[in-house]
Amino acid sequence: MQSIASAPGKVILFGEHFVVYGVKAILATINKRVTVTTEFIDDEVVIIESDIGRLEIKSGTKIDEIQSPLKPFYHIANFFLKDSDKGLKIKIQSDIPVGVGLGSSSACCVAASASISKLFNENNIEKILELAIDAERTIYANTSGADCTAIIHGGVMVYDRKAGFERIESVPDIDLVIINSKIEHSTEIIVDKVQKFKKLNESSFKKLCSDEEKLIFDALELLKNNKIQELGKIVKINHAYLKKIGVSNTKLESIVDLANRISYGAKITGAGGGGCIYSIIDKANEKQIIQEFKENNYECFPVKIESKGLNTL
Ligand code: MEV
Repeated sequence: MQSIASAPGKVILFGEHFVVYGVKAILATINKRVTVTTEFIDDEVVIIESDIGRLEIKSGTKIDEIQSPLKPFYHIANFFLKDSDKGLKIKIQSDIPVGVGLGSSSACCVAASASISKLFNENNIEKILELAIDAERTIYANTSGADCTAIIHGGVMVYDRKAGFERIESVPDIDLVIINSKIEHSTEIIVDKVQKFKKLNESSFKKLCSDEEKLIFDALELLKNNKIQELGKIVKINHAYLKKIGVSNTKLESIVDLANRISYGAKITGAGGGGCIYSIIDKANEKQIIQEFKENNYECFPVKIESKGLNTL
């Protein structure tokens, strides 16, 4: 018997990094997905196969003995295999680019958690989410939990590390273009860098958090009132805050400059330091905009907001 689950990637529309320190963030899931297929095998091993490699490991092995980037999925498998004499084969297929801030790792954790849970007759969404976040913590300990939460529920949501999340039901049609800087990043390293910035600049960081909080409030109003062009201005301001905390670089700035000239507004999405920029565009100009990025040798693709989060098949 096979158990299959799929989950979408995400963009952080507003609030990355500040969300780690208790500010709200607005996230949206996108129409790029990962699918995880799991089945029991007779040997007491966990086999994980994905585009980024293969891991075969005896069940019961301690998590700190594993160096592979695939260890979050082993963590989930091992959680269920504790009292079992069986093993698991986990296959991950993804159309979300890896390591560029589009939530590929969180989407894999969510889909793997759901797929494996289903094999063990566990369908509680809160438990699936908790296990996915726990798995993510094996590679990045201080996650705010925003990415997995958005991915499991789908659509657009406001996320607050303490208060939880609220889904925004009436969402306007936003057309986004993602531009991939092709610089892979480690979320953990960039989050640590921001923590150092905060330690050295306590009062300006505090001010930026409160400015971001106000920005999120305005962004929510504009989203609810379908004012996409004005939302673009807020996007630019949020990018300026991210630049101030040191998560931008020369390449990202060149992309944002170009994007701001030809769209409503652009910013880093996710941890930064590399990864992707998103740009809010007018659908009527999509072809021209894509061509312009391509002429400047940037990899880019349009995405739509996807309302379907986790899907167990
Ligand atoms: C990473 O996608 C988002 C960050 O805010 C980190 C987090 O929320 O855990 C940079």
